[in-house]
Amino acid sequence: MEKVSFHEPVLVSEVMEALHFDNPANKGRQARIIDATLGTGGHSFEIIAKGASALGIEADPGMLKLARSRMKTVNGSLKLVLGNFRDIAEIAEKEGFSPVGGVLFDLGTTSTQLTDEARGFSFANPEAPLDMRINSSLQGVTAADLLNGLRQDQLISLFEKVLNRFSAKRLVREVIKRREVKKFVSVGDFLGVTAGIRPKPGLNRATLPFLALRMAVNSELENLREALPKAFSLLGKKGRLLVITFHSGEEKETIGFFRRISREGKAKIVSKVPIVPGLEEISANPRARSAKLNILEKIK
Ligand SMILES: C[S@@+](CC[C@H](N)C(=O)[O-])C[C@H]1O[C@@H](n2cnc3c(N)ncnc32)[C@H](O)[C@@H]1O
Repeated sequence: MEKVSFHEPVLVSEVMEALHFDNPANKGRQARIIDATLGTGGHSFEIIAKGASALGIEADPGMLKLARSRMKTVNGSLKLVLGNFRDIAEIAEKEGFSPVGGVLFDLGTTSTQLTDEARGFSFANPEAPLDMRINSSLQGVTAADLLNGLRQDQLISLFEKVLNRFSAKRLVREVIKRREVKKFVSVGDFLGVTAGIRPKPGLNRATLPFLALRMAVNSELENLREALPKAFSLLGKKGRLLVITFHSGEEKETIGFFRRISREGKAKIVSKVPIVPGLEEISANPRARSAKLNILEKIK
């Protein structure tokens, strides 16, 4: 039988505490929470175990299928939708999830996606096709297409999202040199051109170039920018928006939105500094080490 591995959710107790289920936003009803990044359902599982009802949104049909199979074993109120969180307002209205007591974004990819050898998300599988699409039936452009097709200036600005200008230019020179001879097809092809990148302490030299490609293939920052105000608009009074980020691009986008909306007097930032996992969680789940939870509460 095929072995199913579920993603290990991060900061679970911190998220459950922050969603405070007795929140007045729930007006004495069963709490309603939107899990905008369902993954394999780790956070949703805990949310419905608290007696709340959850709407789980997931863009990857494979993850949705895994979450569905897992949730069969749980009693509780859960709706699962295949969709992109940039359409969160439309999806929530359609499913009757507005206003809600909380919305959770746990950004990035699951370990299940990362270790799937057919997807090309990880440089650990050099033979894999350089794909990285979260939804291959809706998205036409793969990571290899970007490397083979973008202009030099477009590639520099893609890699500058995570690398300094010097490293981005150097990497793009190597990309162009290679593609003039042979097109990019596999993860190994891209790994080969990252050899000249100076690694950040504690990181593999390929980590940031691979992250930049994944972000571009899936329009990750653009989706987040569009989704945050929509998610905020779905909250009832004192409802909370929780965002777990894994790198500075996501954090900048999130904090920028939180500060803007707080300055307008519509919300307050609950987490004065981001909440991070303790040593125990990090040693049990090393992927948690870069997780940061930021929390915003709607005032009226
Ligand atoms: C870090 S994982 C979430 C894990 C989840 N909290 C759990 O406990 O299993 C992020 C998930 O968000 C999904 N995702 C990424 N971008 C998305 C988007 N724009 N809309 C919906 N889901 C998205 C990914 O496919 C991935 O499954």
